[in-house]
Amino acid sequence: MTTLRKFHAPGRVNLIGEYTDFNGGLVFPCAINRGTQVTVTEDVSGIALSSEQLEFSCAVKVAADSQPVGSEWVNYPLGVMVEFARLGFTIDGYKFHYSGDLPQSAGLSSSASISVLTAFAVNALTGAGLSRQELALLAQRSENNFINVQCGIMDQFVIAMAEADFAIALDCDTLTYQQVPLSLGEYRIVIGNTNQPRELKSSAYNDRVGECQSALALLAPLTHAEQLAHVSPSQLEDHGHLLVDRVVRNRATHVIQESDRVKRATKALENGALEEFGQLMHQSHVSLRDLFEVSSYTLDCMVDLAMNTEGVIGSRMTGAGFGGCTVSLVHVDQVDKFIADVGREYQKSTDLEASFYVTTATDGVKEMQS
Ligand code: GLA
Repeated sequence: MTTLRKFHAPGRVNLIGEYTDFNGGLVFPCAINRGTQVTVTEDVSGIALSSEQLEFSCAVKVAADSQPVGSEWVNYPLGVMVEFARLGFTIDGYKFHYSGDLPQSAGLSSSASISVLTAFAVNALTGAGLSRQELALLAQRSENNFINVQCGIMDQFVIAMAEADFAIALDCDTLTYQQVPLSLGEYRIVIGNTNQPRELKSSAYNDRVGECQSALALLAPLTHAEQLAHVSPSQLEDHGHLLVDRVVRNRATHVIQESDRVKRATKALENGALEEFGQLMHQSHVSLRDLFEVSSYTLDCMVDLAMNTEGVIGSRMTGAGFGGCTVSLVHVDQVDKFIADVGREYQKSTDLEASFYVTTATDGVKEMQS
């Protein structure tokens, strides 16, 4: 068997700006040092897909009208291939073998990592010539159409576009973005995995999308906002009473304030005001917990423990929530103690063993030497 090509896509951690992407708001993620690899080899006919982590393999036929198949994992790569077929680039005759060290369903974008990785590989193999940004949009379409999660563009965008040592300040409405140097000085990014798996496909995510749409429908006539995140905090103060449903009002308040927090956080980082950046991260968590209601007992527990640990300037849940991971900024001298102390106390409170990953900001998807 001839090895043809090998590709790598990172996972991502979102530092601040949660549930703002599908509302046309701002996000601030970076790529991490864990990810997914795919080795593509020649096969006789059709497409063979296999995953080392899931010990799973199957054969699929790709066409523009292919429908999702039973097993959920297969639909991530298959959905991407189908989107290419719809553009007139049908792929055939390859075996895709996936492996990696990104925990699944943990809020670090394992699904977008697979989708963008597949898109990048198919683009290279078919010579379709799509730009990185187009690949991100294609991968998002595939997740919307094939997995039926109405996710925003944040995850796919950062995995496609990331540069080592930078985080991306992205306006999810216009897709204008700025690579911001992630100058954290004496601080390190520590991801804490609650090891409470989350199920993103659960209707909770799409429910939040619907609630945000309801809020926009009520606010748009008075504010002329086309996206919920475009409503300013002062417009919300003036017109918030229109949102009589408390849940809808809370969701809108989170989105509008969170997008504003991203603006302030990126400025703080650019000014070297790390403590302020950390405080905004924690305010984001409180809002996700109380207003957007996507946190969980385990996430709150880990964030509370982190915030009470020496050397921590900020901590929050990251990604879609409902379990998964937290992200904390921890002083380099305290990282080992942080992991030991938070891990021990977390286990006492939850009976779960946490995992911790110290990460730097890495490059986005790329081809590797095979
Ligand atoms: C998931 C989605 C993203 C984003 C986050 C929440 O990761 O894929 O588009 O909405 O949740 O910020």
